[in-house]
Amino acid sequence: MRMRRQMPGSVMPGIGAYGPRYQAAGAQMNPRVLGFLGRALSLEYSAGQHYLAQAALAGQRGESAYVDGFHQLANEEFSHAAQLTQRLVALGALPSGSVLKPADPAMDIVEALETCRGREVELVNLYAQAAQYAANIGSGEDNELFARLHEEETRQLEQIGGWLMTCQQSGCPTNMMGGW
Ligand SMILES: [Fe+2]
Repeated sequence: MRMRRQMPGSVMPGIGAYGPRYQAAGAQMNPRVLGFLGRALSLEYSAGQHYLAQAALAGQRGESAYVDGFHQLANEEFSHAAQLTQRLVALGALPSGSVLKPADPAMDIVEALETCRGREVELVNLYAQAAQYAANIGSGEDNELFARLHEEETRQLEQIGGWLMTCQQSGCPTNMMGGW
């Protein structure tokens, strides 16, 4: 049985903590690409967590029409996280311990959708930068991944904007009924 070296006080060992076999793999890694992948992973998990929270809050307010929509958004973000993880592993890396942004509170569906739109804007901006960087260094696979995720986040942003407009026009509930 292989023994793993303990890392007292750390949950994020660097590549130097592993043997030569792993260090050789690390030599192929572009630190900025890894940085984009790690940052994207944190934002995707944070957005997924936020959407699950909004689904729960919407359900508690009796706005059941929105619960499935928030669940669908959360599932899409976790699918994006899976694609980012797949790319990290292909590059010889592993997720290094994402720090999540807390879910934002919302008193009504309009406020909820506005917070969701903020999450999407962050992701769209990050993927635009990441795709541009990958193109600049000639990394076709990273460019393809980041450009595809940029497109999907842009679609989600438009979807949330559409819900917000519909909700505002049709006068959806503006106050929570039971609090949380
Ligand atoms: Fe996403």
